[in-house]
Amino acid sequence: MMERLDKARSSHPQPLRLAGRVDAFTAGGSTAWEVHYAATEMRARGRDVIILTIGDPDFDTPEPIVDAAMASLHRGETHYTPAAGIPQLGKVIAEAETKRLGRPIENSQIVVTQGAQNGLYGIMQCLANPGDEVISIDPAYPTFSGVIGGAGADMVRAALAFDGEQFHLDMTSVKQARSERTRVVLLNFPHNPTGAMLNENEAREIAGFCRDHGIWLVCDEVYAELCFDRPYASPASFAEHAAHTISVRSFSKSHAMSGWRVGWVVAPDHVAFNLQNLMNCMLFGGAEFIQRGAVAALGLDAATQMRDAYHRRRDLLFDALSNQKGVRPLSPQSGVFMLADVRGTGLSSTDFAWRLLKEHNVAVMPADSFSPLTEGFVRLSLCVPDDELAEAGARIGRLAAAVSG
Ligand SMILES: Cc1ncc(COP(=O)(O)O)c(C=O)c1O
Repeated sequence: MMERLDKARSSHPQPLRLAGRVDAFTAGGSTAWEVHYAATEMRARGRDVIILTIGDPDFDTPEPIVDAAMASLHRGETHYTPAAGIPQLGKVIAEAETKRLGRPIENSQIVVTQGAQNGLYGIMQCLANPGDEVISIDPAYPTFSGVIGGAGADMVRAALAFDGEQFHLDMTSVKQARSERTRVVLLNFPHNPTGAMLNENEAREIAGFCRDHGIWLVCDEVYAELCFDRPYASPASFAEHAAHTISVRSFSKSHAMSGWRVGWVVAPDHVAFNLQNLMNCMLFGGAEFIQRGAVAALGLDAATQMRDAYHRRRDLLFDALSNQKGVRPLSPQSGVFMLADVRGTGLSSTDFAWRLLKEHNVAVMPADSFSPLTEGFVRLSLCVPDDELAEAGARIGRLAAAVSG
């Protein structure tokens, strides 16, 4: 990546000026992936590395989804499609969202996107002006700074509260982050990297806060189906808050479809209409065979199987790391990641991650890359088979014990 940047700079005698917003796309998270890149290189050279850096499901996409996409290709469905998505997909998504949110959702409120990432970027373009402020909870998913900066808006962080076991939404910090310039609150629950959830009171309170202050509420809900201990309460479920609340969804994790790049946005009609116009300018419609696969996905109960598998792995890794010297796992309530507190080893997140890779062939994400709040933590992905996860837990324990003395 850096090589490409240097080459691009040196290939022009007098580089022309780029738009200022490009800086927003490189900020945040660019060093976060160094351990991951080193690990993938080591693996390519034949080293037996266990990679727990990335939340990319290790499961194959369920066969009926693949079959539906293949059948679509064989039918010759290789043409342009409507910018908001094919009507059949809009229909099944609207039905699924009506059920999930407990309020009627129409086709006209759905825009199919190329993954949640595309939906987040597009929706921010539609809601925020240059100079506006967007409150994002902290720790924040690393691309949020680019999503917000790409709209020319400023990101203001509102820290989650940590009770020693779990992270929670902290309305006091959200209220302190608000100013006259606040245009959007961008939430991510179930939360990456902490696995934190919203309960119904919290969901109602944040939605009410946004309504009272004329602020859009955007909920990144890519992990909504992967909740282990109790159901997730979505702020988008309240009819009285529907006019200012938007939900961004994805097939990536719930159906092991990360590489298909398909998700959707649920928004009030006029927002969906404008997002669809933006998608028209950016993509001119998504691939039909992908969307046919997505229609089949919503007819399956795949999310339950995925959730059960991640739940089992969460317990397995938690048990493997519990009672190990120098390391303390936090049990996530949802999602595909676990945070482990390694402050007991005396090492920083980054030093722990590099030593673990070099000495024990396990790659983890230093969690200080998300926020100073998670300095001293590492993030472990549950997206590897159970036996690899157990082995990784044992190796993490060995390093932690050795360093803690
Ligand atoms: C919080 C969060 N938002 C968005 C995304 C992007 O999801 P998608 O693959 O649907 O673009 C991810 C992926 O890991 C994520 O963790």
